[in-house]
Parts: sequence; structure tokens; C-alpha cells
Amino acid sequence: MKMNTTILEVQNLKKYYKPHGGIFSAFTGKENVIPAVDDVSFYIKEKETMGLVGETGCGKTTIGRTVLKLTPATAGKIIFDNTDITHLSAAQFRPLRKQLQMIFQDLDAALNPKMRIKAILKEALKVHRRLSDAEMDRRISELLEMVNLKKSKLSNFPNELSGGEKRRVGIARTLAVGARFIVADEPTSALDVSIQAQVVNLLRDLQKELSLSYLFISYDLRVVELISHKVAVMYLGQIVEMGMAGRIANAPRHPYTAVLWSSLVEKKSNESIKNAGNPNESQWGVFDFERPSTGCRFAPRCPVYHANGHPTICTDPATSPQLRKLDAAHQVRCHFPL
Ligand SMILES: Nc1ncnc2c1ncn2[C@@H]1O[C@H](COP(=O)(O)OP(=O)(O)OP(=O)(O)O)[C@@H](O)[C@H]1O
Ligand code: SF4
Ligand SMILES: [Mg+2]
Repeated sequence: MKMNTTILEVQNLKKYYKPHGGIFSAFTGKENVIPAVDDVSFYIKEKETMGLVGETGCGKTTIGRTVLKLTPATAGKIIFDNTDITHLSAAQFRPLRKQLQMIFQDLDAALNPKMRIKAILKEALKVHRRLSDAEMDRRISELLEMVNLKKSKLSNFPNELSGGEKRRVGIARTLAVGARFIVADEPTSALDVSIQAQVVNLLRDLQKELSLSYLFISYDLRVVELISHKVAVMYLGQIVEMGMAGRIANAPRHPYTAVLWSSLVEKKSNESIKNAGNPNESQWGVFDFERPSTGCRFAPRCPVYHANGHPTICTDPATSPQLRKLDAAHQVRCHFPL
């Protein structure tokens, strides 16, 4: 059997933002930066879906935008289909651009409200030079069929569509352009549960039909498990656990993955986890940029750290946990994996 080839490889990717106005650290006197993505490495094979989960602000969208070159990387390497695209200029990147597409998190910002659906799809198809009107209409019918959208919707404006229909248009647009690798950023959020399942199924069918690869971003591990072959769990800019989807969901080894998962399974609100005996609640999901690095970023909220009497190996910057292999297909960043 032919092994699938790697379509996207990311090596030691960093994306640091300068906060607006520039915050200066009282400790170092240097201008602080927000390490939104801090040394992240992974690869995605052809026809494979990698899920990326983590709480709001942990850097998921930033990874997606950086690997698609919508924003420049601070450091690291992005290799697409055996080409190092990290430092390609806009002109050099143009021929590849259409193969790397994004389904944007914000449903409404993603579609131009002043354009009818037909015009939106036509515009996307224009990246392919010189399609005749007849060819254009044929491609549009094909796209509608692929995403199960009624032809009558072509004359509508985006605000006349339901959330699920807008999502389908967004997906059709990436296909029109000719995507091979798609970053799907929270494609099911803001949709009813039944519609969420339809969108997940649609993406899965299209993957099979068109050999697509996805980076599927969501804060919801349940949705990610449904569609992903492998999953990376992020916490404050770093991957803390990565492995096959079933293992991450059923036998998580990082304390954060376990907390994330149990909070969803038990449908606890963030509020109730916050109050579960953690003395540092104020750090929930927020990186304290004013403090020097203190080792494991999850320590203030980590149940294992608290249960073990606060071992210094967890908080000493010199012994920050690194992502290490538990086995060939499972990595974890923790001194005391579950
Ligand atoms: N353009 C920007 N300038 C400065 N800081 C930014 C910028 N974009 C994102 N950030 C910061 O980078 C961090 C990561 O943001 P990002 O949007 O990637 O998170 P996310 O995981 O996608 O969150 P969500 O689940 O809410 O979409 C956050 O602290 C955010 O405030
Ligand atoms: S290294 Fe320590 S603090 Fe960090 S997740 Fe593991 S047990 Fe918790
Ligand atoms: Mg986001």
C-alpha cells in the first residue's frame, strides 16, 4: 500500500506579537511580547486531519494564519508539499496560494455582505484563468452539489442564509480556488448541534472525494475527535500533548487534556473547574506576560502539581517540561504524565 506523503510540515514555529502600545516589563525593562505560538512542530499527511484543541487565546488561529502565510512567522519553518514556503515572497508564493486555504472562524466576516453567493463563487473561480461563462456556470453547479447547497441560494446575499448555509458557501469557496490543504477554524462553532454534524460529515466526505488535508481547529475536543486522525492539544502557545485521536480522547496523558476532556464530558462550566481548589484562578487561560518564565505553564492550574505538593521540577525554568515521546505516535509535555 502506498504511504501517504506529508503535505505540511511545521518545524519549531514561533509567532510573537507585540502588544498594542507596547508593554514594558517591570522585571527586565525590555519590551514584552506575546508568545502566541511558541516553538510548535507537527506534520500533516495527505488525506489526513489534524485536530488542534485548546481554550480561547491559546494560539490556535495564530498557528492557522501563520502556516498559511497570512501573517509572517517570527521563527521556524513551514514546508508545504516539499517546498519551504516560510520566506517565499508574495509573488513566489502566488502559484501555491490557492492550494492552501482557510475556512474562517467568523461566519459573517468571511463573506462579503454586498456580494450575492454566485458572485462570491465566481470571484473564487477567477483564480483559474479564462473560464468561459458556460464553464463557470458548470463549475458553480458542481460546487453547489459538492456542498449540498440549493441552486436558488445563488441569488441570495450572505445575510439571507442560515449559519450552516454560510459555512457551506465558505467551504465551496475554498474548493473553487483549488484547495488541497485547508485550515478549518472553528467551522462548527455558532451552529446548532445537528448542523455541526452535517458540516463535519461534509468535510469528511470532501476529504475522501478530493484527497484534502485539514488542520481542524476547535475548542471542543468532542467535535475534534469526530473528524481528526490525530490531535494536538495546545496550552498557552505550546503543544502539550499530541497523538492519535482515540488515544487523546480516551486515554489522555497530560493533566490539561484530562481536565479539558472531563470538563466537556461532565459538561461543567469553566467556572466550576476554576473553583476546584486552584489557588491561581486568575491565570485561567491568560498568560502572565509580566512574570518571567516559571517552568511548566500549566502548573498554576494543574491538579497533579497541586496533589503532589508543588514539586519544584514543574516550576523551575531550568527543568521546563519538553514535549517527549511516550511511544512512536504519542507525545506529552509533562514530568508526571497520567
Ligand atoms: N494581531 C494580534 N496582535 C496582538 N496579539 C494578538 C493578535 N492576534 C492574536 N493575538 C494574541 O495571541 C494570542 C493567541 O490568539 P489566537 O487568536 O491565536 O487564539 P485562539 O486559540 O484562536 O483563541 P479563540 O479560541 O478565542 O479563537 C492571544 O493572547 C491573542 O490575544
Ligand atoms: S509538568 Fe507538572 S505542572 Fe506541568 S502538567 Fe505535568 S505535573 Fe502538571
Ligand atoms: Mg481562534
